[in-house]
Amino acid sequence: MYVCHTIAEIREYVRQAGERGLVIGLVPTMGYLHEGHLELMRRAKDQCGVVVVSIFVNPLQFGPREDYAEYPRDLERDVRLAGGAGADVIFNPAAEEMYPEGYCTYVDLGDLTDKLCGRSRPGHFRGVATVVAKLFNIVRPDYAYFGQKDAQQVLVIRQMAADLDMDLEIVTVPTVREPDGLAMSSRNVYLSPAERQAATVLFHSLEMAGREVAAGERDAAKLHRMVMEMIKSEPLAEIDYVEIYGYPGLAPVAVLDGAALLAVAVKFGRTRLIDNTLLEV
Ligand code: PAF
Repeated sequence: MYVCHTIAEIREYVRQAGERGLVIGLVPTMGYLHEGHLELMRRAKDQCGVVVVSIFVNPLQFGPREDYAEYPRDLERDVRLAGGAGADVIFNPAAEEMYPEGYCTYVDLGDLTDKLCGRSRPGHFRGVATVVAKLFNIVRPDYAYFGQKDAQQVLVIRQMAADLDMDLEIVTVPTVREPDGLAMSSRNVYLSPAERQAATVLFHSLEMAGREVAAGERDAAKLHRMVMEMIKSEPLAEIDYVEIYGYPGLAPVAVLDGAALLAVAVKFGRTRLIDNTLLEV
C-alpha cells in the first residue's frame, strides 16, 4: 500500500491514475478505522478504479475542550485494514501540510450548521467543510463517500459541493452497527464496559420511534418526548440533544408528513455519541 504524506505526492498519484482513465473515489476519514469506514471503502471499490483514503485528524473541527489530542490514532493498523477493504493509496498529511503558516481560508455554511451538532460544537462544521473542500481540491475525486451516521455532516458537504460547483458525486452509505445496534464510531473505544452497555439505548430509542411512526404516530413533539424519556431512563446517559427536523432541509417539523430526521447526541461519561434515523411517512 502506498502511503503518502504530502499534497504533491497524492496529486501526482491521482494525476497518473487519471491519465490511465481510472475513476477516482475518495473516502475521507480521521483514521482509527472501523467497519463503518471499511464499508465506505468497499462501496468505493465497487464504483471506482482507484480508491484514495485520507487519514487526517483535522484539528480545525475540534473545539478547545474536545478530544483532538486523545483522538485514537494507529496508522499501521489503519493501513492494513484499508488495504483489506480495497483502498489503493492512503493520504496521511501532517497538520502543517494542510494548514501551513499563514493559512487563513475557511468554508462557512449558513442555516444548516446552526442546529444539532453545529449548535453543540461551534465551529465544528466550518472545520469539516474546510478540510473536505481541501481534500476535494487535492484529490479531485469523481466520487466521495460518507456515512449516514453523520447525517448533518453529509447534508453540509452536499450543500457545499452544490454551492461551490464541485464536480463530483457525494455517495451516502448507511450506518454500520454492532450486533446490538450501537453505531460504529472510533470514539466507542473510550466507553467503559458499563457505558458501552448503556449506549445501546440510543439505537433502541431510534427503533422505538420508527415503530411508533410505522404504527401511525405523526406528532413530532410526542415522538420527541418518548425518545427523551427512554434515553433518560438510562442512568449513565446525559442528553446533549434529541431533535426531529424535516429532511433533508432541516426545517422545524410539528407533524410528520414527509421524511424527517430524528437525531440524538448523548454523553456516556466523557464520550459523546451521535446517532440518527430517518422517519419516513
Ligand atoms: O467524518 C469524519 O471522520 C470527518 O468529519 C471527516 C469527514 C473525515 C473530515 O475530517
